[in-house]
Amino acid sequence: MIFTVAIDGPAAAGKGTISKAVAQDYGLAHLDTGLLYRAVGWRVLQGEAPVAAAMALEAGDLSHDDRLRTPEVAQAASEVAVLPEVREKLLDFQRKFARRDGGAVLDGRDIGTVICPDADVKLFVTASADARAERRFLELEAKGIGVSRAQVLADVQARDARDSSRDAAPMVAAEDAVTIDTTNMSIEAALDRVREIIGLKLQA
Ligand code: DC
Repeated sequence: MIFTVAIDGPAAAGKGTISKAVAQDYGLAHLDTGLLYRAVGWRVLQGEAPVAAAMALEAGDLSHDDRLRTPEVAQAASEVAVLPEVREKLLDFQRKFARRDGGAVLDGRDIGTVICPDADVKLFVTASADARAERRFLELEAKGIGVSRAQVLADVQARDARDSSRDAAPMVAAEDAVTIDTTNMSIEAALDRVREIIGLKLQA
């Protein structure tokens, strides 16, 4: 069976939590595509050129969650993600992952529009910038990364603006995506909604 779930949306809207739960519930493989851009961004911060960094990516690059999940690497990821050549180098890997036997869930910014335009289920998970910044602030605080709320909000807004205004595969809901706004929704309520959508699709 090849069943593909595409989950897009801005940072800290709940995509990651929803994707992991969906993968677990339905036995699908999960790819957090933001990690690919973060890994390229990390290499660029070490002095590599963006396209060379994208070509040099290895599986091991993705397994350093701690060093990839910093605010600096998030901005660097958003900056390299503007470059069409970088996106192109990451395309094949993502499409192959999506077609793997048993099915897959991919989350990112352009999954429903560019990577998997034929996905069985497309979701666009979003929330207000304030709500997302607060969640990200609490996550970073829990990890001991010292940043102010104001700085986290500014970072989230800068990334939203860059990710949605770029020419190459901008962050946008696919026409046939279901939008889930988690601003005032618990994660349980969001997951119930997602399971309902996937359940209906699997029945059809
Ligand atoms: O999902 P994330 O916050 O880890 O993503 C980091 C950056 O990578 C994001 O700001 C934009 C870029 N990205 C992208 O352009 N396309 C994707 N499919 C995933 C991430």
